Amino acid sequence: MEISDIFMNKIEGNQITLRGWIYRHRIGGGGKIVFAVLRDATGIVQTTIKAENTDERSFKNASEAYVESSVIVTGIVKKDERAPGGYEIAVQSFETVCRGESFPVAKDLSEEFLLDIRHLWLRSQKLTKIMQIRSTMVHTIHEFFQKRGYTLFDPPILTPNACEGKMTLFEVNYFDTKMYLSQSWQLYAEAAIFALGKIYDVAPTFRAEKSKTAKHLAEFWMAEMEAAWIELDEAVEIAKDEIKFLVERVLEKHEEDLKFLGRDIDKLKAAISRPFPTITYTKALEILKEKEGMNVKWGEDLHAVEEEKLMKHFDTPIVVTNYPIEIMAFYKPRDPKDSNDQKTALCFDMLAPEGYGEIVGGSQRSLDAKDIVKRIEKEGGKIDDYRWYLDLRKYGSVPHSGYGLGVERVLRWICGLDNIKDAIAFPRTMSRAFP
Ligand code: 4AD
Ligand code: MG
Repeated sequence: MEISDIFMNKIEGNQITLRGWIYRHRIGGGGKIVFAVLRDATGIVQTTIKAENTDERSFKNASEAYVESSVIVTGIVKKDERAPGGYEIAVQSFETVCRGESFPVAKDLSEEFLLDIRHLWLRSQKLTKIMQIRSTMVHTIHEFFQKRGYTLFDPPILTPNACEGKMTLFEVNYFDTKMYLSQSWQLYAEAAIFALGKIYDVAPTFRAEKSKTAKHLAEFWMAEMEAAWIELDEAVEIAKDEIKFLVERVLEKHEEDLKFLGRDIDKLKAAISRPFPTITYTKALEILKEKEGMNVKWGEDLHAVEEEKLMKHFDTPIVVTNYPIEIMAFYKPRDPKDSNDQKTALCFDMLAPEGYGEIVGGSQRSLDAKDIVKRIEKEGGKIDDYRWYLDLRKYGSVPHSGYGLGVERVLRWICGLDNIKDAIAFPRTMSRAFP
């Protein structure tokens, strides 16, 4: 039996056995009663161990247990309005599996200390719930694409070339040559769509981000899609549908967990209650100027500050398209509808409301091999490394587009987390790679 079964089935008067860990522990009644709150993956429940109702060994086990000792407890389910959840267990037998030592996690410990003992802090109610919501979210990503007939395609993680610029590559010594950890599956996905048409994945992604912010990890998971025959507008619509679907599913299954995490559920519900607007980069600059008195020079990227100011004017996610081509990766094509002085790319970012920033990035893909070569060279790449990629433009090329969704970025927004580090079990950042 799991703890949630007690509350779901509202069983009362039954004898049950639970296996779990001590969550809270207190001795009362002049040393004659132990109150032990038990936890398992499904929740917590109060158990009461009275000297008069149990054998001597059980009472000793219960009295001596530490927080996080693992135990097997048998007792009768009783209704008790004072207990969390309205039920408690009147214990008949209490067996200790591993008493262990006094647990180092107490209240009010610093963020860095909790990261040092992440392997233990993972057991906290907060992280347990976040990891369960993450599981639902990733499952839902698979559901979303499988339902639409996409094929799951797994890319290589060791790659000979950059996809998102040389600055954030992690180098790996590969049998005495240089390889890099994947920054995105994209270039390989572009090869695979000529066989599989519509593909997606959820995969580990690596960026040597030198920035210490609440939204950058050095190792994160990206859910990406790539499809033949689709143009930018269609990719944008799929991204909007996907985000809405993910939030709906999490709300359906985890409303209580979100409340536990202190998430303002109304804001989350409001965020998906209306269509997400699409604006251009140029329009975003106009809003910043008119409503925020902020002058961003046309051609400059939108950084965290600008994104935050812009999102003050929206309570749903928004999509921003047509960023200046000069600051975009080599594979993003020029929008043919542009005027000559403002050259933009057929690309988009999705920004989350409430200051959570960019959650999705994508584009249509350039089909102009000559232009790609020029731009790779400008980024400092070696054409030889990309010869295979350029082949894709030679043999039966077709219009295609795709995007990448940052799993931890979306999870952070959905759960309302202060820092992205809590959206992944063992965070890796510039200053943290232990345990
Ligand atoms: O915008 P990005 O860099 O796009 C790409 O990598 C494309 N090749 C994807 C594609 O078209 N298939 O990254 C996509 C998303 C971002 O919107 C963000 O959500 C997340 O990945 N992301 C990060 N998440 C956590 N930590 C980081 N350092 C991240 N960098 C990007
Ligand atoms: Mg981006």
